[in-house]
Amino acid sequence: METRVDEIADKIYRFSTLIPGVAGPAGLTFNQFLIDADEKLLFHTGQRPLFPAISAAAARVIDISRLRWITFSHVESDECGALNEWLAVAPRAIPAHGRIGCNIWLNDMADRSPRALAHGEVLDLGGKKVRRIDTPHLPHCWDAGLIFEETTGTLFTSDIFTQPGDGPALTEGDVIGPAIALEKVLPFTAASPDTVTMLRTLAALSPRKLALMHGPSFSGDARVALEAMANFYDEKLRDALAR
Ligand SMILES: [Fe+2]
Ligand SMILES: [Fe+2]
Repeated sequence: METRVDEIADKIYRFSTLIPGVAGPAGLTFNQFLIDADEKLLFHTGQRPLFPAISAAAARVIDISRLRWITFSHVESDECGALNEWLAVAPRAIPAHGRIGCNIWLNDMADRSPRALAHGEVLDLGGKKVRRIDTPHLPHCWDAGLIFEETTGTLFTSDIFTQPGDGPALTEGDVIGPAIALEKVLPFTAASPDTVTMLRTLAALSPRKLALMHGPSFSGDARVALEAMANFYDEKLRDALAR
């Protein structure tokens, strides 16, 4: 199993591992992101079995013992399964998550006390600025949230826009069609009355890059892509109510 390393924005690195047979015959990529600022931040830890490959990939970019922050979207194995393995090799790293996630899970699960991030709170990493955005149940799980790196305009979307198969690290192509096609056969998003509003709020950030957890990163007018996903769920919810 090989973990690819690519720089998808200035000093933002994507670690990508294709797992065959997941979500269909083309397999699924599992991607983690490193923001290489003065205070280095890892977004997503990967599952525990992937830790040797992902940490070796990260060690090609930085001294991983210097990681300062480890954060993620929501509590699931691919987002945070290897959190404690990372904490063991990065003695100064602080696990960070939204307040709900700390209360319902991380205060108990993490080997080191977590830092609860408020909705909208900005971490000044020194050269990069990361804003935590609570998105409860989007893509799924009550504790869900995303991060937005303000200097590069990069939105880390977690499972939103998930698409199967391997591909380029960075694309300017269509990330909407493949995501909607997969959602129709594998409805993993917990569409709620707030889903559409949250997606439109994310669109209003006008991100220049989208860092997908499962699929290529996207460069271009991400506002259009986020509005398209909002429209898809709006229609889906209206259809459900009309039944
Ligand atoms: Fe997930
Ligand atoms: Fe995921």
